[in-house]
Amino acid sequence: MEGQLSVNHLLGIKYLTNKDLALIFKTAEYFKEIINRPIKKVPTLRDITIANIFFENSTRTKLSFELAEKRLNADVINFSASGSSVKKGESLIDTVNNILAMKVDMVVIRHSSPGVPVFLSNHVNSCIINAGDGTNEHPSQGLLDAFSLQERLGDIKGKKIAIIGDILHSRVALSNIYTLKMLGAEVKICAPLSLIPKHLKTLGVEIDTDLHRTLSWCDAANVLRIQQERIKDNLFPSVREYAAAYGIKLSTLNSLGKKIVLLHPGPINRGVELTSDAADSEHAIILDQVENGVAIRMAIMYLLSSKFKKHEK
Ligand code: NCD
Repeated sequence: MEGQLSVNHLLGIKYLTNKDLALIFKTAEYFKEIINRPIKKVPTLRDITIANIFFENSTRTKLSFELAEKRLNADVINFSASGSSVKKGESLIDTVNNILAMKVDMVVIRHSSPGVPVFLSNHVNSCIINAGDGTNEHPSQGLLDAFSLQERLGDIKGKKIAIIGDILHSRVALSNIYTLKMLGAEVKICAPLSLIPKHLKTLGVEIDTDLHRTLSWCDAANVLRIQQERIKDNLFPSVREYAAAYGIKLSTLNSLGKKIVLLHPGPINRGVELTSDAADSEHAIILDQVENGVAIRMAIMYLLSSKFKKHEK
């Protein structure tokens, strides 16, 4: 495969160019073909050691990165903050430097504080991949969502994409907005105003508080989880009332008179933002997103590794 990324780390979509997106998608298509072969492994990252450092809970993203690393034959070590020396008061830099002293080439990090991946990229000598920093960005998710949409809709340019739900606490929202805008989509955000950050309008998205109007407008809807663990204030009266106004049911989708593509990054609060009959309907591509996540992460790690392998020369 030809081409190089413009960056040495994956810190956020906002640092990428259109050329980077095209290169990642093209590479992911190649890896998707590989992981559907009877023998799913390639020796691409042999001799590379990758640490997955997770300070926040994760199921899909952690498993997906780990599987992508194993498919590429990397050596993998896993660290999660619970049960570690972080609980004894060790600083972030000390924790990471101790891991790097074990000759780690790449760090995949998830942390509850926005900016941690950027901070690490400035202070430790390793390639950093952001697997979600607080409410800021989740670049690999933004990429896999756009890749999954492209598979269904073709070119995203001019397509109408809605992002619905808890935008205020979501890192998936911001990475999706950056990716979709770069690809030329029209993006509409739909949520109660209390769940929409004030700066959002500056990103060139439309805002709508009406679910039915938004669904009637869009070609695809990415539905985000109500992040109850991050919600401190009374931003809506109750989960039941949120579900009544913004929850998507199969009957809502069937009433549109057209088929839309439904995405959700997981984990789903079934019965809150999506009912089970909607989540499991033919509209949903939620499991395609999971499959594509592995291919996208293989592409990201392959492309980044080729950059630092070159540096070492
Ligand atoms: C998301 C996350 O952790 O940001 N999940 C994921 O990575 N697949 C979204 C969420 O937690 O709701």
